[in-house]
Amino acid sequence: TAVHRLVIVRHGESAWNQENRFCGWFDADLSEKGVEEAKRGAQAIKDAGLKFDVCYTSVLKRAVKTLWTIMEGTDQMWLPVIRTWRLNERHYGGLTGLNKAETAAKHGEEQVKVWRRSFDIPPPPMEKDHPYHKIISESRRYKNLKDTIARALPFWNEVIAPEIKAGKNVIIAAHGNSLRGIVKHLEGMSDAAIMELNLPTGIPIVYELDADLKPVKPMSFLGDEETVKKAMEAVAAQGKVKK
Ligand code: 3PG
Repeated sequence: TAVHRLVIVRHGESAWNQENRFCGWFDADLSEKGVEEAKRGAQAIKDAGLKFDVCYTSVLKRAVKTLWTIMEGTDQMWLPVIRTWRLNERHYGGLTGLNKAETAAKHGEEQVKVWRRSFDIPPPPMEKDHPYHKIISESRRYKNLKDTIARALPFWNEVIAPEIKAGKNVIIAAHGNSLRGIVKHLEGMSDAAIMELNLPTGIPIVYELDADLKPVKPMSFLGDEETVKKAMEAVAAQGKVKK
């Protein structure tokens, strides 16, 4: 039986989602459409009457602003917010800034899918002379950052899961891939199955969890089925060669 509820939401479309560029840890802002998506997400959460006790997000403004928009739209701006690099997007390394469709044309769609979606194969590293190396590596927010691997899950296990078990209502506004890590863990998905999951931007996802934090039913989207399906297909299509 469901005893806990968790809401997760991928940030609304970012300026770099719009330009179809690998973003990762580059701090792209929401696009106008992304702001609208976040507002719609907020309205859906309001309509569903969901209340939270604590909010988690990354240190990237596209996720932080999505969370703010939801807090504002549901009149919960007073809630505590915890920001952590552990909920950041996958670091896209050497791919950061490149166009996804052009990268697929150059390296093949299969390779791009592996870089975007695989569980254990990282994108190529970011070299020191990469155009975005300086702005990302010198940001104060990553001062103490040593380990860039296995990051979302320890935070889930050590911080978020205990709060939910203690009865807190939690919302996490984060990124396609940090949320895929959490979804894989919650649902016990295989490495192969998680390859096929594309999370839409800005559409809140509700999980009903049992006392052990196992989902009692599939994730449910606060959005109509057709919109959700189209949004997920659009994310998958970003890594295809442009026809
Ligand atoms: C990015 O960092 O480029 C996006 O936020 C997520 O990209 P992906 O869907 O290609 O993993």
